[in-house]
Amino acid sequence: MSSAPPRPEAPSVAPIRLVHHGVLCLRLRWRLAALGALLDGHSFWATGRLPSQLERMLSGSQVVVSAWQGRDLVGFGRATSDGVFRAVLWDVVVAEEHQGRGVGRRIVEALLASPPVAAAERVYLMTTTGEGFYEKLGFSRVDGQRLMLKQTSGVG
Ligand SMILES: CC(C)(COP(=O)(O)OP(=O)(O)OC[C@H]1O[C@@H](n2cnc3c(N)ncnc32)[C@H](O)[C@@H]1OP(=O)(O)O)[C@@H](O)C(=O)NCCC(=O)NCCS
Repeated sequence: MSSAPPRPEAPSVAPIRLVHHGVLCLRLRWRLAALGALLDGHSFWATGRLPSQLERMLSGSQVVVSAWQGRDLVGFGRATSDGVFRAVLWDVVVAEEHQGRGVGRRIVEALLASPPVAAAERVYLMTTTGEGFYEKLGFSRVDGQRLMLKQTSGVG
């Protein structure tokens, strides 16, 4: 009886790890260029943000989660919260080549499970193309309310 030839090994793919950042977000502060590149390349609303602006954005977010494959930043999301009434998710993005593998779900679930967001009675977000994704994660479309916007210079 002849034994089957050994199968060629599948190329090993490093697992994607989620990082829950502390208040200083040190790991991301060292990689602001990578964060800018992720947002520039895979979002349409958060392009052209300068490193100094990204640094302030991180400081102003109570919860920051990122996803890494080895040293590559492949996903990001953040939240602001008053810790009791309202929380808002912002800038959830997964690099295109990693989409459709559950990374976005893991990022949103991590944001929702974080104490500042979990404590809030309502969690909001704005989305242009991600409605179906967020519905899978338990969000519902709100028809009775309007999104209001005041454009400011943003200098600060
Ligand atoms: C939207 C985004 C964050 C989703 O991340 P992802 O890693 O691709 O999503 P996941 O693989 O975790 O998907 C989780 C579930 O949502 C579904 N899903 C993902 N994107 C979807 C979409 N645009 N519409 C409907 N369902 C979607 C998946 O099929 C999956 O369903 P399942 O659990 O039944 O298998 C990612 O595609 C992305 O960064 N897109 C570009 C930026 C963007 O549009 N962000 C949304 C804010 S406007």
